[in-house]
Amino acid sequence: MENITLADVEKKAVMNYDFSIKNVAETILKKKKIVVMAGAGMSVSAGIPDFRSPGTGLYSNLEKYDLPSSTSPEDLFTIDYFKDNPMPFTLRAHCLMPGQFLPTPTHHFIKLLSDKGLLSRVYTQNIDTLEVLAGIPADKTVFAHGSFADVHCIGDERHPVALEAWRAQIDKRDPPRCKECDALVKPDIVFFGENLPERYVELRRTDLEEADMLIIVGTSLQVHPFCSLLNETRADIPRVLINLQPSGEHLGLLFDHKDNYRDVFLKGTCDDQVKALCKVLGWTKDLDRLMQEQKKKENDGWKIIVEAQKKKRQTQPK
Ligand code: OAD
Repeated sequence: MENITLADVEKKAVMNYDFSIKNVAETILKKKKIVVMAGAGMSVSAGIPDFRSPGTGLYSNLEKYDLPSSTSPEDLFTIDYFKDNPMPFTLRAHCLMPGQFLPTPTHHFIKLLSDKGLLSRVYTQNIDTLEVLAGIPADKTVFAHGSFADVHCIGDERHPVALEAWRAQIDKRDPPRCKECDALVKPDIVFFGENLPERYVELRRTDLEEADMLIIVGTSLQVHPFCSLLNETRADIPRVLINLQPSGEHLGLLFDHKDNYRDVFLKGTCDDQVKALCKVLGWTKDLDRLMQEQKKKENDGWKIIVEAQKKKRQTQPK
């Protein structure tokens, strides 16, 4: 995809070299197959720290997980490490348990893209399930690194494991084990050393080839293979990064470069930037309505996840 060279006139047609937020908003309204790539920055205002922000990110604050000094921060999410020492992840799972956090304006903005028929798919690296709570339809969401919405026995995935039973063990800070074989039970999140979900593999190619705009929110674009999605799009679509700092320049996002005709960097918190976009789009009332409706469901977080899991198990029995 990336190697296709566009004529000058085709490059001009992408954004008319106007990288203002106003033009980003106007461009959104002309699209029908927007793909969103999301990362941890999107959930920071919900109270979940990201990974790599110096000082505030999880990887700078690992004291309570009691990792030996020889381990790297990513070991917390590495399958071999988990098998040897499940306690640090058990403590982390307790902190992240769904139901404690609410979706952010940025999650609701993605829901609005979906409601208005503009969203092809959101690919999220986040495992916090806030996309589910925001009501983004399941068929519009790909949890590229899995999610907390279900659990399985790592010895044999066919062994039945109840989400509630898993949660009860995590609440006691006791690494959950399978009743049938005593192997560890783990949420369906992708650890380093594991394959990405089938759904990601199945949908990725077509979604990216057909995408007419890419919006990237709250990610350092450091983790493969997820980050490489941005180079699987056609060369004639706009790519918009909403983030505190520029990322993805190592992958070819150009921003201030003289050859840029399609990459836009909206610098700031994703919530501020999506609110500014909504203002130009005339969607502020819609966004406020979704936020108000969310408040009424404040205490339903865990229930919604359990229901989503039941539905998932009925349609894809293990
Ligand atoms: P990172 O922590 O690597 O990057 C988060 C990005 O969001 C950074 O560039 C921040 O500057 C930015 N950011 C933070 N707060 C923000 C805010 N309020 N608004 C906008 N931007 C903000 O997180 P990810 O890129 O999501 O994988 O990390 C990718 C993967 O690395 C995770 O899925 C996880 C981790 O290791 C696994 O565990 C497999």
